[in-house]
Amino acid sequence: MYSKWIFNQIESLKIRKKINLLDFASGNGRNCIPLSKKNIIVTAIDKDQEKLNRYKNFKNINTVCFDLETKEEWPLVKEYYDVIIVVNYLYRPKITKLITLLKKDGFLFYETFSSGNESYGSPQNPKFLLKNRELLDTFSDELLPLSFYEGKINDKKISVKQMASFKKGVF
Ligand SMILES: C[S@@+](CC[C@H](N)C(=O)[O-])C[C@H]1O[C@@H](n2cnc3c(N)ncnc32)[C@H](O)[C@@H]1O
Repeated sequence: MYSKWIFNQIESLKIRKKINLLDFASGNGRNCIPLSKKNIIVTAIDKDQEKLNRYKNFKNINTVCFDLETKEEWPLVKEYYDVIIVVNYLYRPKITKLITLLKKDGFLFYETFSSGNESYGSPQNPKFLLKNRELLDTFSDELLPLSFYEGKINDKKISVKQMASFKKGVF
């Protein structure tokens, strides 16, 4: 099942022309597969080729198998994406490089686990858990924050997450 929050964010954009969307660490494609049917050209990047194989031949989806956590530059075009989504993935050392991939006026929608989640399940490793307000603190110098939530989510099971949306532009 896809992330309802991500879908609501995309709906709110009222997309009428073709746009480029990057699904960063796209996994089994639960978000980008349904999104690719809505005037959206998807680039899906993940290190797991087996997962990408599931949707690599889909119309409107380009898959890229790549380890995002090495010193090698990401094989992604700078200032190309109208929308970037990141769901349930965190790698701090290169996180702000996402900004360079966004077009001017592009949107970043980021949803992942936050501290406090360790009481309810995995992930429990602090490496994969955002600190208090971390998404805001990380991106707000360069992107305009549009919305921010931090707290419990009850979606079949309880988790603790942050969900933040940002716009790139002059401000
Ligand atoms: C919890 S899954 C989330 C997948 C998807 N975003 C979703 O919400 O369903 C995390 C994904 O990050 C990918 N991943 C982890 N480390 C990675 C790395 N170093 N480079 C690229 N992808 C990585 C995994 O292969 C996995 O598909």
